[in-house]
Amino acid sequence: MNISFCCTDTKAQPWLEGLRAALPGATVEPWSEGAAPADYAVVWTPPQAFFDEQTRLKGVFNIGAGVDALMKLRLPAGVPVVRLDDAGMSVQMAEYVSHAVIRHFREFDGYDADVAQGQWSYRKPRMRTDYPIGVMGLGVLGERVSQTLAQFDFPVLGWSRSPKAIDGVQCFSGDDGFKEFLAATRILVCLLPLTPDTENIMRHDTLSRLLPGAYVINVARGRHLVDDDLLALLDNGHVAGAMLDVFRTEPLPAAHPFWAHPKITVTPHTSARTLREESIAQIAGKIRALQDGAALASIAGVVDLKQGY
Ligand code: NAP
Ligand code: GLV
Repeated sequence: MNISFCCTDTKAQPWLEGLRAALPGATVEPWSEGAAPADYAVVWTPPQAFFDEQTRLKGVFNIGAGVDALMKLRLPAGVPVVRLDDAGMSVQMAEYVSHAVIRHFREFDGYDADVAQGQWSYRKPRMRTDYPIGVMGLGVLGERVSQTLAQFDFPVLGWSRSPKAIDGVQCFSGDDGFKEFLAATRILVCLLPLTPDTENIMRHDTLSRLLPGAYVINVARGRHLVDDDLLALLDNGHVAGAMLDVFRTEPLPAAHPFWAHPKITVTPHTSARTLREESIAQIAGKIRALQDGAALASIAGVVDLKQGY
């Protein structure tokens, strides 16, 4: 069995060694143009040339949860694309979003500023019932995040394409549920995949429907958010602030207004990192299962290519 590794912005050697150790007997090589045909591919944002050349693949494994970069390419027909299914990401995402929510709700930035001035000051405690949190996307990451936030006794709402039932979370679905979901949300968390249906979903008219003094947490993809619309709503006060981990262009260009905006906290696409050991174990397990004839339906994380996630 041959495995081709084609991951941009990724240190290849530890992945190659890890995959070789997890799949003894397999040949695991980094891809370069003209390389021999492989049975399986392990990829992250590969070039089109990779798929144009690798015509005998039996499966493509993405070393991230989001497959939007793959969906832009011409993929080989009939070959399953499998994304990471959690692999240690959901707990990281729950940490990040809880941090963002609590930092805003408890006004820790304000306390930091006061302390920097040598001021021992108190702020009036806020009521968590005034801060309903709406999580867009109730998949592997969104479900864990919404359940974690419910543990802090915040009112939590969730929105997904298909109807869901999650303990402690008021669930909405589809276009019909979207306006009701937004109108009841003050802190908005985006954990949607980037697809034609979700691109620019956080724009002027949708963000304007949030409760006044809204707070926006984007941990999905930069293209979910219309940057200028967020800036306008921060200017007019409808949105009180934002914590953003993902951007339309990454790294965030030096001149982008988000860097220095006093109401925006920027992090460098780090909310849920790919954990190498967990990911290798997961991918190797799935390759073994496919080799042993497992049904595709039994493999978690197979992408629905029609839906784009
Ligand atoms: P997932 O399990 O596929 O969940 C996606 C959720 O979004 C599902 O609940 C799905 O609804 C919902 N959804 C999709 N299209 C929708 C639409 N048009 N309207 C309403 N809901 C819709 O994905 P995941 O593993 O949770 O990951 C989510 C995204 O997080 C990834 O695609 C990636 O872009 C991003 N991410 C970011 C980082 C980071 O470090 N910043 C790390 C990992 C992932 P159904 O349940 O009805 O299908
Ligand atoms: C990271 O953004 C991922 O999609 O895994």
